[in-house]
Amino acid sequence: MRVLLLGGGGREHALALGLVDDPSVEVLIAAPGNPGIGAIAELRAVDPVDPAAAAALAVEAQADLVVVGPEAPLVAGVADAVRAKGIAVFGPSAEAARLEGSKAFAKDVMTAAGVPTARAYACADAESVGKALDEFGAPFVVKDDGLAAGKGVVVTDDRAAAEAHARECGRVVVEEYLAGPEVSLFVVTDGEAAVPLLPAQDFKRVDDGDSGPNTGGMGAYAPLPWAPAGLVDEVMRDVVHPTLAEMRRRGTPFAGLLYVGLAITATGPRVIEFNARFGDPETQVVLALLETPLGGLLHAAATGSLAEHPPLSWRAGAAVTVVVAAEGYPAKPRTGDVITGAERPGVIHAGTARRPADGALLSAGGRVLCGTATGADLASARDAAYQLVRGIALAGSHHRSDIAAAAIDGRVAVSG
Ligand code: AMP
Ligand code: GLY
Repeated sequence: MRVLLLGGGGREHALALGLVDDPSVEVLIAAPGNPGIGAIAELRAVDPVDPAAAAALAVEAQADLVVVGPEAPLVAGVADAVRAKGIAVFGPSAEAARLEGSKAFAKDVMTAAGVPTARAYACADAESVGKALDEFGAPFVVKDDGLAAGKGVVVTDDRAAAEAHARECGRVVVEEYLAGPEVSLFVVTDGEAAVPLLPAQDFKRVDDGDSGPNTGGMGAYAPLPWAPAGLVDEVMRDVVHPTLAEMRRRGTPFAGLLYVGLAITATGPRVIEFNARFGDPETQVVLALLETPLGGLLHAAATGSLAEHPPLSWRAGAAVTVVVAAEGYPAKPRTGDVITGAERPGVIHAGTARRPADGALLSAGGRVLCGTATGADLASARDAAYQLVRGIALAGSHHRSDIAAAAIDGRVAVSG
C-alpha cells in the first residue's frame, strides 16, 4: 500500500521507521517530514493545519492510508477531510480529537463515563480560580483549556504563580494534584475494538530529578519494570472502553490513537490527560519494541477491522530514548546551529533542517534529535541511548542525564 504520513517531528520519524519496515508498505510519502524522514520517504510540502490541502495531497499521492501524527491537524479536521475523499485515515475526527483539544471537554467525557481522574473545575475568571485553588490546596495544578503542546500546564506550590498562569490563559481547568509515577499508555482503536501498546514512561520536566519547567517530553523508556501487575487490563476496563463507549454514545466515535496519560496513585490509576495521537518521545521506544508490522495495524484501525487483527507481538528487552534539546528550550529555543554526529541508526530527527547552501544539518526546533536504542534490559538500552547522544555535537544543546535511571535502580515506587 501507499502511505502518506503527516507531520515532521520525532514521533513521525519513529512512525516512518516502523512503516518502512512493514513489507505491505510499498511507498511512504511524508509531509512536511524532516531530514531524518527524508532519508527513508519521499517528502512533500503541505500546510499541516489546512484540511483541504492535506486531502488534496492524499488524493494526488494516491494514498491507501493516511497517518496523521500531530494533534493540530486532527483538531483542525484533517482526518475528516481525508476520509471525505474515501481514503482510509489513521486519526480521529475533529469532534473526537476534542478529547485532547479541550481539557474541559475531556473532563466532561470522563465524568459521564465514570473514568477515574483528578477532580477539577473549569474556570473562566479569577474568582472561580481562587475558589478552586482554595478547595484543592497545594501543589496547585492549573491547565490551559486549549492545545498547548504539553506546555500549558503549571504544577506549583506557589499560589501566586498558579494565579498568574490562570490569568495568562483565560479559560483554565484547575484540578486536584495526583501523586504517583506517570504512565503513558497508547491504545490503537477503530472506535470499538481497542489494542493497547506497551506502557511507557515519559520525562516531562526539562532538568534532572524532574525539576524545571514542563516540556513536550525529554526522554522515555519501556517497558516499566515497576508497573503493577494487571495495570493495562485495569486501564482498558476502567478507562479506555468506557471512554470509547461514551464517545460512540455521543455520535462522535474516537478512532485512531488514544493516548492515556495516567498517574499511578495510592488508590489506583487516575487519568491525567487524554491525547488524540501518539506521544512524543514515547513513540520512539514503544515502536522500537513492536514486532507486528505497523502499517497493517494502523490500516486495520483506519478501516474498522481491528477486531480481526492478530494479537501484537513484541521484541524481548527494553528501549530508551533521550532527547537532545536546543539551547534555551523550552522557553526560547535557539535554532540554526550546525549538528554533527547524527548519521547513525537510532538517531531520530525532530526539529532539524538542511541548510540549502551545502546540505549541512541544522537545528530547527526546541527538541532537535533523540538517541533511541534497544537492549537486552533497561540498563543496556540506556547505555546505548546515551552513547548515541554523546556522539551528537550541537552547540548549546542540553539533555537529561537521568532518563530511566530510577527505574533501573528500583527507585520508582507505587504507594498503597
Ligand atoms: P498534561 O498536559 O495534562 O499532561 O500535563 C503535563 C504534566 O503536568 C503531566 O505529565 C504531569 O506531570 C503534570 N500534571 C498534570 N496534571 C496533574 C495532576 N492533576 N497532578 C499532578 N501532576 C499533574
Ligand atoms: N510525551 C508527551 C506528549 O506527547 O504529549
